[in-house]
Amino acid sequence: MQQPRSAADFIELGPWEGMPAAQQPDWRDHPAYPGACRALASAPPLVTVPEIRQLRGSLSGLARTNTLLLQLGDCAESFYECTPRHTATKLELIDRLGDRFSELTGQSVVRVGRMGGQFAKPRSQAFEWHEALSIPSFRGHMVNSDIATSAARQANPWRMVWAYEASDGVQRVMRTYRQRHGRTATTDGPWSSHEALVVDYESRLIRRDPDTDDLYLGSTHLPWVGERTRQPAEAHVALLSSVANPVGCKIGPAANPDDILRVCEALDPRREPGRLVLIPRMGRDRIREALPPIVRRVANAGHPVVWLSDPMHGNTVTSRFGLKTRHLADVITEALRFRDIVEEHRQYAAGLHLEVAADDVTECVGGSVEDEEALRRRYTSLCDPRLNASQATELIEAWAKGTAAGPCRPA
Ligand code: PEP
Ligand code: CO
Repeated sequence: MQQPRSAADFIELGPWEGMPAAQQPDWRDHPAYPGACRALASAPPLVTVPEIRQLRGSLSGLARTNTLLLQLGDCAESFYECTPRHTATKLELIDRLGDRFSELTGQSVVRVGRMGGQFAKPRSQAFEWHEALSIPSFRGHMVNSDIATSAARQANPWRMVWAYEASDGVQRVMRTYRQRHGRTATTDGPWSSHEALVVDYESRLIRRDPDTDDLYLGSTHLPWVGERTRQPAEAHVALLSSVANPVGCKIGPAANPDDILRVCEALDPRREPGRLVLIPRMGRDRIREALPPIVRRVANAGHPVVWLSDPMHGNTVTSRFGLKTRHLADVITEALRFRDIVEEHRQYAAGLHLEVAADDVTECVGGSVEDEEALRRRYTSLCDPRLNASQATELIEAWAKGTAAGPCRPA
């Protein structure tokens, strides 16, 4: 194979080119496509190699130093909430929850935001009904508009450039914040993370570190592959296999241990601590059967992964009024079951991956949101229902106590 000469050349030669890729916008014939791709390929990376290495170093020591990992933010970031003020509010929330987690557990907490690039969403349905019309689903501001008309929902590749610019603004505020708050090894972060979903975008932000010749993904510190795109022989996993960032992988309840082992072999072939974060998101009930064989399999194969619980995505239900919601009691139960299962297998339960809003939203039921009726008060999510800060605090307190905050809802 021809030796790549530059990042842009490498992209054409990347092993993911020509591989199947689920959940991609159909926009290659759009007139803005070539220009958007060129703009990204020649743009500076949004995060630096020393930052990525620092996070990877922190993740490699979590179990040894009994340090927790707390990753949280919006399900989908909005282009309209990337101002310095919005970003500062989100960073303060992350630190407030991180500090509380630390205070209650006596453990240090590495902090990661779902921010600075979380603009693309996988969808189970390509179309949705709106006022008796079938329109394309919202796929994140990197792909289309959240406005519910057929025209606004057309995928526009130039949105990738807007996503880059919005992310750049957020990353700059995050960098200043980290510098101002004199981060130490014990209050590391907040670092950025997002689902590496749009292959056209992510592949064009890969850069080579001239010092080591390693490739890095310049779009974020910690990219992850989602439950719908983690097939080992497909583009998303191939792309993340090629870069030296720490990487995450979501694991749903239907995953079989052989598949997860293949993902581990692809993403962590050298069995390096700090490289791979596995994020089960199985649901309150299904986690009991589904997680143990996977933990056993991964541990027996010697992959030193970080185990992180996403207790949100397996517990989504439709409320009586049609709004998507999650019950805090279910979220808490899954998180505690996760920890018990991981610890029963003598592995380290590193912490939580959550969807939490900086505003005082009413999207999940529990705590201050007393019932499904109350969801209508302030439901602003672009995608999945997020916890508000007080609900997230309740979850963190339950983790710290090691006991469920309340009885399980009947199934
Ligand atoms: C998400 O994290 O918002 C998401 C879509 O997750 P998953 O891939 O686990 O469904
Ligand atoms: Co979500």
